[in-house]
Amino acid sequence: MSGLIRLVDIPTHGDQRGSLSVAELGGALPFVVRRAYWLHGTQPGVSRGFHSHKKLNQLCVCVKGSVRFVLSDGKSRESVTLDRPDRGLLIGPDTWREMHDFSPDCVLLVLADAEYDEGDYRRLQ
Ligand code: TYD
Repeated sequence: MSGLIRLVDIPTHGDQRGSLSVAELGGALPFVVRRAYWLHGTQPGVSRGFHSHKKLNQLCVCVKGSVRFVLSDGKSRESVTLDRPDRGLLIGPDTWREMHDFSPDCVLLVLADAEYDEGDYRRLQ
């Protein structure tokens, strides 16, 4: 695994009924969550993201379907596909992210350590 791609295993309790995955402080979550949002119904061929954040930390979990992330720190560029609900991708500040190849059923949950702030974004001009 590269230094850019920080995957975390999300503790999962499975029994005959199914599975329950938990992201909590001190476990899979290294920060206090102040915002949660999710991407769903992404149209075929659409890519999203194309920005970095100045301060924000995020944990991305593809709870259904699959999506491919491309991360870059300006020096290297790495790709990883998220396709399971018990695996998270941590993305910290100053990391460029792109999301590609959303499956039609993809639901991508993002947990973040701050409220939405357009001033925290760095986008292409
Ligand atoms: P946008 O930043 O374009 O998504 P991405 O770059 O990840 O593809 O966000 C789409 C819209 O949603 C935009 O109008 C901003 C708004 N938005 C919020 O209001 N709150 C949020 O927490 C997020 C992530 C986006």
